[in-house]
Amino acid sequence: MGFKIAVAGATGNVGREMLNILSERGFPADEVVALASARSQGTEVSFGDRTLKVQNLENYDFSDTDICLMSAGGTVSQKYSPKIGAQGCVVIDNSSAWRYDADVPLIVPEVNPDAIAAFTRKNIIANPNCSTAQLVVALKPLHDRATIKRVVVSTYQSVSGAGKDGMDELFNQTRAVFVADPIESKKFTKRIAFNVIPHIDSFMEDGYTKEEWKVLAETKKMLDPKIKVTCTAVRVPVFIGHSESVNIEFEKEITADEARDILREAPGCQVIDKHENGGYITPYESAGEDATYISRIREDATVENGLNLWVVSDNLRKGAALNAIQIAELLVARGLIKAKKQAA
Ligand code: A2P
Repeated sequence: MGFKIAVAGATGNVGREMLNILSERGFPADEVVALASARSQGTEVSFGDRTLKVQNLENYDFSDTDICLMSAGGTVSQKYSPKIGAQGCVVIDNSSAWRYDADVPLIVPEVNPDAIAAFTRKNIIANPNCSTAQLVVALKPLHDRATIKRVVVSTYQSVSGAGKDGMDELFNQTRAVFVADPIESKKFTKRIAFNVIPHIDSFMEDGYTKEEWKVLAETKKMLDPKIKVTCTAVRVPVFIGHSESVNIEFEKEITADEARDILREAPGCQVIDKHENGGYITPYESAGEDATYISRIREDATVENGLNLWVVSDNLRKGAALNAIQIAELLVARGLIKAKKQAA
């Protein structure tokens, strides 16, 4: 007997991708339910070659559902996840609502799979921020080999990270530029078409943005609290795929060639690093793919034991939906969850 899975936020960018990936990877589900707000009740979403009618999250009874993949924003998660968890359904949440809760594991299966066991405290597991997920997949094997002291990350984040409204805004503004219509900015604070914006999420007292803080706090929680991390997060006019320029300082010596060899063997990583025109990955090519791509691996001679990397991944997949489903697969593979119907 397979599992009963609910996808909450099924009409959104990440929710749709969750349905695609569940189907693509043949997750052992007997039943998949699509949930969203009352606004979407009765509309249809695709699940493999089938369509699912969207139900209202507010009225849904989770008592016979095993796993809820949640991607409906922090406020919705804060309201619903504890109730869903109390009904014996494990929530895998894509928002930032639970990531920093000491009783909620924050998991990237390639990085800290053993931390998942603590999920029983609240029946909630957190999925990291999209920028952190791809970053730690690339950092983990290098940290294991040469111990990272400090990381400087600059992100180039696509508009799909801001939901479907973000994608619509880039599309509409780009069209408006060509037909000389007035440019309207609602989702982003400045025009995003043919521009870049050094501001994602809200400002904090120290001048950093919440997005930048998330990269720091989540890397420490998942990889190693001793690593120093600083970040500048930037929105760029790309639809799908986040890119990162990553400067790393290690305790031990490590060459670019060694790093390339380590990353070639590392789970979830794919190295594309030829020193020639086009011998690197761009976000456009990462869209629809599962890997975290690493290019431009080179030594930084301005510090002792320094390396620079270019890290790119599909933010809707490894940065969100794929990682959430890999967490669900980890629960199943480790026998940490039993299908309720089977158990009855
Ligand atoms: P809906 O389409 O009904 O508003 P995105 O991040 O791509 O904008 O998607 C957000 C997802 O979260 C959508 O599926 C949206 O559903 C869902 N959502 C937003 N608010 C609620 C809510 N109050 N209850 C349930 N789902 C919600």
